[in-house]
Amino acid sequence: MQPLDKYLAELSAQNMLRSLREIESAQGPHVKIDGRDQLLLCSNNYLGLANHPALIEAACSATRDFGVGSGASRLVSGSMSLHHRLEEEIAAFKGSEAALLFNSGYAANNGIIQGLLGPEDRVFSDALNHASIIDGCRISGAKIEIYPHNDMARLEQMLNAASELRRGRWLIVTDGVFSMDGDIAPLKDLVALKERFDAWLMVDDAHGGGVLGRRGRGTAEYCGCLAQIDLQMGTFGKAFGSYGAYLAASRPVIDLLINRSRSFIFSTSLPPGVVAANRAALQLVDSDEGRARRERLQENQRRFAGTLQRAGLDLCGSTTQIVPVLTHEPEPTMSAAGQLLKRGICLSGIRPPTVARGACRLRATLMADHDPAEIQAAAETIISVLSELETQK
Ligand SMILES: Cc1ncc(COP(=O)(O)O)c(C=O)c1O
Repeated sequence: MQPLDKYLAELSAQNMLRSLREIESAQGPHVKIDGRDQLLLCSNNYLGLANHPALIEAACSATRDFGVGSGASRLVSGSMSLHHRLEEEIAAFKGSEAALLFNSGYAANNGIIQGLLGPEDRVFSDALNHASIIDGCRISGAKIEIYPHNDMARLEQMLNAASELRRGRWLIVTDGVFSMDGDIAPLKDLVALKERFDAWLMVDDAHGGGVLGRRGRGTAEYCGCLAQIDLQMGTFGKAFGSYGAYLAASRPVIDLLINRSRSFIFSTSLPPGVVAANRAALQLVDSDEGRARRERLQENQRRFAGTLQRAGLDLCGSTTQIVPVLTHEPEPTMSAAGQLLKRGICLSGIRPPTVARGACRLRATLMADHDPAEIQAAAETIISVLSELETQK
């Protein structure tokens, strides 16, 4: 065994050691940790569907009828009717020609970018894109150009410069809602650029799907350009309350990925119970209940973010249910998260490498099921914990 103790001790000394927190109850607005009730402010179960009776019933019933496992990858014998029906329903939901399931958002971003691009191609990627996009770009072998976060003028310059020696396929890729800042990509501007420069536009809507847009179609619906996004990636593990991911795109793109995408080809397909839960989640998001849940989530977000903003805290430009509070350095960030846990509030302290050095933050995420009075009280507790830490400096 190579000695790892020194490395781990160094991480710990720098307040950078990560460890797992055991959650002893189901994902809801409250959870049990170390036997104590905590207000959960770091779950992606935005619409509260992870515990919804309709999803639980769909998962149980499909498991009884079709078993626990799918038995194989899609191209072998794991392409069950349930997978096909869900893909048709995703395509209808997103208004695309076709859709393809992946086993997770991480696998999707890896497999989509690797499947579409090769060394002769070029990808333009936002500086704050999710790690799975970064890894997908790397394994594709394409030339990678990182543009500063949401900086359309700089992206345009980079596209112009690359045009002089244009070869291969071009892909512009962005998160819809950025996972650490909670801000939104300027999709209409990106559409204009991808059309002008004849590139594909891919949007990772892990955090926008189900939540944004009047009908919950996500960031592209919110920005008014749903039909113009070539590659719409989304996940089922967040607002949809379940697990897995998808790409909605044209039929040729989906056919290419079935033939080339390694994370799609070389992995056992999603289990029947999960696929059935995803189908139930799509229906719910599309229903009046889905709309009511989106509205409750937005009200909680306005209340929580408004209170923090009025106290002068820096929320990193967030306009969504992801509400970061900038705390800069690891030490105050982790002290504040620890203090909050003692006061019954569980949220994440985010440090490098997830964010850049000096950009540590407390990151809160809201749910439709949170009680508005509790959300108000939580925002006030965060303000007082941060001001106590400030006076102790
Ligand atoms: C923007 C974004 N994309 C992709 C993923 C990965 O999705 P999954 O958890 O389904 O692997 C995440 C997960 O945190 C994410 O935030």
